[in-house]
Amino acid sequence: MNLVVISNRVARGAANEPMTGGLAAALLPVVEKSGAIWVGSSGRVRDGFQKEPFAEIEALGAGALAMLDLPAAHYGGYYEGFANSALWPALHSRSDLIRVTHGDYLSYREVNAFMARALLRFNKQDAAFWVQDYHFLALGAELRELGVTGPIGFFLHTPWPAHGLIEGVPHHRELIEAMLAYDLIGFQTEADRDNFLGYVKSNLELAVHDDVVISHHGKTRAAVFPIGIDAEKFAQSAAKAVTHPDVSRLRRSLNGERLAIGVDRLDYSKGLINRISAFDRMWTEHPHLLRSVSLLQIATLSRGAIEAYGQLQSDVAKLVSEVNGRHGEVDWTPIRYLNKGFGQAVLAGLYRTAQVGVVTPLHDGMNLVAKEYVAAQNPADPGVLVLSKFAGAANELDTALLVNPHDIDGMARTIATALSMPLTERRMRYETMMQRLRSRSIQQWFADFVEALRDCQTGRPAARTLAGTPAPWPLRSAGSAARYH
Ligand code: F6P
Repeated sequence: MNLVVISNRVARGAANEPMTGGLAAALLPVVEKSGAIWVGSSGRVRDGFQKEPFAEIEALGAGALAMLDLPAAHYGGYYEGFANSALWPALHSRSDLIRVTHGDYLSYREVNAFMARALLRFNKQDAAFWVQDYHFLALGAELRELGVTGPIGFFLHTPWPAHGLIEGVPHHRELIEAMLAYDLIGFQTEADRDNFLGYVKSNLELAVHDDVVISHHGKTRAAVFPIGIDAEKFAQSAAKAVTHPDVSRLRRSLNGERLAIGVDRLDYSKGLINRISAFDRMWTEHPHLLRSVSLLQIATLSRGAIEAYGQLQSDVAKLVSEVNGRHGEVDWTPIRYLNKGFGQAVLAGLYRTAQVGVVTPLHDGMNLVAKEYVAAQNPADPGVLVLSKFAGAANELDTALLVNPHDIDGMARTIATALSMPLTERRMRYETMMQRLRSRSIQQWFADFVEALRDCQTGRPAARTLAGTPAPWPLRSAGSAARYH
């Protein structure tokens, strides 16, 4: 199988550079090893008709990375418009934030069609396409229109919302019908898959048997593949990172004080206002924690051209400054608030330094920060994860301290509990979570999806591979990039 992976954002091979978003960072090491071609946006746009849309094709591990300049006339309507001001809010149960025009929808469809035309270059014998995320819901249908008959799969990294919410998206019916051109649709959790199938049954009135939908496109299987991380590798890099200058400076600056850490894109789905309010409440209700625990909140700026994000940036900055003003001292700052990104290696060291990891989104597909925080801990003296029950990760990391991110008092109490948890309990919780992380690695996620995609068209049931076994598809040899120039 010649695998072609498609996502809006792609990543290059520099592990120590800051990367925006979980998807690109998570895919990089596995795509590199698999020999797949990874196709995505170059981050630049181009005017007019493009005879050769690929700006760059370069080697990536055993495969290649191919980047496209997207059409300038449609980029805004596609990315800031339909993808992030209609689909993103609806998928995260915030239909109240939908702000979209018909032009945005047309641009979204144009970019999906443009990507499909560009992908034909890779439609060689035995090709299989694996489309990532909500930017390309209609890409499978566009590829079929162009005559592609091989396997096409799709994985949704975000949640799929509860009944009724997706109906806030204009053209939802047309789009979800288009999604049925995929042979396989992967979700992070069973709830996401069931919500999607609920829509297919009630709105499209299609029959679903054993999670397979039959439509005019043929059969589409909906299945659950919770995305993982390489826990061992992350643990090793956390142990090494303690000597990194940023990490050592942080440790020295703490003067024996304890630390809680939050690392998020600055997005309304991440629940930052509620989290900071919970710390405010905690310092008010438990004054002995003043000067003895502080919060390091890293919040990388994201999608700033969208009004809801601009507003959130100023709301969070204002709240942080109020809380620091209320509880701070001449020699103590309760919240260190940073808007810059860090590479994975430094982040691993920062996570290991913190006694509490706070991952409290209002709604999240998986949230890999939760998994990385656990993997980064010192097994002899691990920190405690405080995790929203509305993050996909809560299904696997159920020995974290689970919280309702809407309950500020409850979160304040739980963070205080985390800070006083005895070592034996911390180790027990950490070990259970590490076992889960090891048994569901990112390599396993990738291999399971590809295996299931292959089986969709051959009709064979998906066979699970054992953790740690090599990828079950033939690997390309290094240098495949050259063949596509
Ligand atoms: O949650 C899905 C996801 O693809 C994340 O991996 C990533 O954080 C985000 O959405 C995409 O963000 P951006 O708009 O910065 O590419």
